[in-house]
Amino acid sequence: MNQSEQQRILKTLNEHLANDTTADAGGIMRAPMSDFTCSKLFEQERDFFFRSVPLCMGLSSELPEPNTYWSDTSTGIPILMVRDADGRFQAYANVCRHRGSQVVPEGRGEKDRFSCPFHAWTYKNDGTLLTINKSHHFVNASTLDLPLIALPSAELHGSLWVRPTQGSPIDEDECLCGLEDDLLHWNLANHSYAGTQIIDARMNWKLVVDSFGEIYHLTVLHADTLASEVLGNVQTFDRFDTNLRMVFANPKFNLVRMLMPNSTTWPYKQITTTVYFLYPNVIMLVDAFGVDFIRILPLEDSPSKSRTIHTWYIEPKMQKRFEQNNMTYEDRLARFRDFVEKEDYTIGADIQVNAECGIQKEIVLGRNEPSLQHFHNVHRAGMGREQLQTMDI
Ligand code: FES
Ligand SMILES: [Fe+2]
Repeated sequence: MNQSEQQRILKTLNEHLANDTTADAGGIMRAPMSDFTCSKLFEQERDFFFRSVPLCMGLSSELPEPNTYWSDTSTGIPILMVRDADGRFQAYANVCRHRGSQVVPEGRGEKDRFSCPFHAWTYKNDGTLLTINKSHHFVNASTLDLPLIALPSAELHGSLWVRPTQGSPIDEDECLCGLEDDLLHWNLANHSYAGTQIIDARMNWKLVVDSFGEIYHLTVLHADTLASEVLGNVQTFDRFDTNLRMVFANPKFNLVRMLMPNSTTWPYKQITTTVYFLYPNVIMLVDAFGVDFIRILPLEDSPSKSRTIHTWYIEPKMQKRFEQNNMTYEDRLARFRDFVEKEDYTIGADIQVNAECGIQKEIVLGRNEPSLQHFHNVHRAGMGREQLQTMDI
């Protein structure tokens, strides 16, 4: 995101605040409530979005050094991600070529080889099968050409992408859709891993995406929590093919616009939160403290349950400030969990129940909810479904 783009966004937010307006989708849109409950749609979603499409798994500091690894099963496919001895990011199906056991347990760590817990076949972090335990008993050879199955993977400007099943290589344009400048600007690769937490909810995974996709609800649902940190119902909206970017203002924005007439000197990062939706299931928030990276996944193969994996990466300059002020990373994670779990996901679980009882057929996405309109339509495009139309009302 270059200077002139930041200026354009600040100017737009300033106009919205001065005129009591916000980003306008140009009309309202109706979406079927059965999208949150339909098991046939859910199976198609799982096979496409969580098997075929490249997924953004996290930022580069998940694998901070050569010979580090990260084993993840949250997509439903066991994925082993490594940074090899040369610092290259690689991903494999975490499935032993012998009898199919998971080779590396869930978690992160430092290792350059992995021994399967079943019969101790050992793989190197470039995927090759190094040794077969008691190979002279097993086969008439010291080893076999049975490497871990490589999955398409790419490290793109500080972000880690994996296609969870074998397929074509990852295409940067397909993943970032024009957000390259933004990712470069934020220096994502320099942000340090600060912690991860899991929040399970009884609501469809798309309802979770929706809950992060607008701030119309901010001054109502989060009146006693988040509303003191972000200004409600004021945002910009820009689409980048399947991805999107929205920018929110925080209370300092109002102070700055009153005290500093020259908007070119406004400190963008101190007065805004920049939010990205990275197709198909990631919300990424960038603010002065760092990056909140939110992966949203179905849980237990059910359209009614979801798992949110929230990882926080701290901005390099903020680490010292945290230490000086005796703030802990755990406190910051807990604060996020608190309002998301008690507020957003409590409402979301109610919506799920209401969708399941089928009494109401549709929801309405407002002019001031452009990100939700965008998400529902890129989701539909992925499923080969007809686009929902906006109605100029
Ligand atoms: S299944 Fe892995 S060594 Fe046998
Ligand atoms: Fe919320």
